[in-house]
Amino acid sequence: MNIFDKKIDRTNTYSEKWDKYKGRDIIPMWVADSDFETAPEITQALQTRVSQGVFGYSEQPTEGVKNAIQSHLKSRYNWIIDTDWIVPLPSLVSGLGIACLMTKSEGDEIIMPATIYPPFNYVTNNTKRTAIKIPMCLESNSDTERWVIDIEALENNITEKTKLLLFCNPHNPAGTVYSSKELNKIHEICQRHDLLVCSDEIHCDLVLDEDKKHIPFATLNDDAKSRTITLMAASKTFNVAGLGFGFAIIPNNKLRAKFRVLVRQRLPDINILAQTATEAAFNHGEEWRLQQIEYLRKNRNYLLKEINNIDGLKMYPLEATYLAWIDVSKLELDNPELFFEEAGVGISAGKYFGDKNFIRLNFACRFSLVEEAVSRIRKAVLKLNKKAD
Ligand SMILES: Cc1ncc(COP(=O)(O)O)c(C=O)c1O
Repeated sequence: MNIFDKKIDRTNTYSEKWDKYKGRDIIPMWVADSDFETAPEITQALQTRVSQGVFGYSEQPTEGVKNAIQSHLKSRYNWIIDTDWIVPLPSLVSGLGIACLMTKSEGDEIIMPATIYPPFNYVTNNTKRTAIKIPMCLESNSDTERWVIDIEALENNITEKTKLLLFCNPHNPAGTVYSSKELNKIHEICQRHDLLVCSDEIHCDLVLDEDKKHIPFATLNDDAKSRTITLMAASKTFNVAGLGFGFAIIPNNKLRAKFRVLVRQRLPDINILAQTATEAAFNHGEEWRLQQIEYLRKNRNYLLKEINNIDGLKMYPLEATYLAWIDVSKLELDNPELFFEEAGVGISAGKYFGDKNFIRLNFACRFSLVEEAVSRIRKAVLKLNKKAD
């Protein structure tokens, strides 16, 4: 049996994903949390750490986790970093908030994709900055379709008050992996307008397309290196998000010093177990990660075929992440979330990501659940279409 087929009962375990539908027959496919048991090497490392029985303060970050991040970035992205560039974070969203505070003052503009992981909006509002939204446009050719930030609109919407680009690559919710050509164009604009860049790359180790490669924005050239705060974590890839740990890589000494001060003033210390998990993930989790990618690819390919066979639904191909972005506009639903819940599938409504015509469906679960979800969706949509006839 494939290890990812293993059924793990997450009910009554305080799982946010599963508890939302406690006692109801609804398959939870919403929040970006996988149902997979993490790599055994991570569990083992945690067990060893727990067995010491002492949980006092620790180095932040530990030598172990710093070295693991350094070698992970070198082996995966050929990115040679100095371990001093690492700033540990209790969560990536808090890092996004700190990045907003790196701009000078309230009212400064932060530019970002219009369709985006919702906390990009919260952190901008919470820090009293102004969000400038850039539409995503659909790039189509005979082979595929993909959503990319409208690069022309990016250039045209920058004003002298714009100070920061909040970027997401791979993109959540569209699953885009930006090419070096696209990244270079975006960088050129940021350089011309002297923007700080915060690149959220939390999904970088979840690239599903074999011919696509994640390129950290900061590795494009020396200028990108000096203006970029890169946010990464092992959390999504290894399903350890509940432990709470991510990190910023900031090569520029001045930027990093300022970022560190803000982190120290505003954020709590890092969970010691999360550091242990991240160290084990990056040092020993590669084989498990590759197996997971293979499994997710199968789920994605199945969904793409089956969802696109349902009249009224359009799923776009995704290059990375385990989040399917599906256009449901043809169904003309007042409340897509409710419609799919009544069908027995809990999705995330696209309105939270900036597009009410879509839903986002998390397929990081065992294949049999994906099959069941498709069957429920098919049945509900068929019934709806029949009613409309
Ligand atoms: C793009 C992106 N950034 C950040 C996060 C959340 O990170 P954290 O839980 O570390 O705050 C997510 C979670 O789905 C995400 O998709």
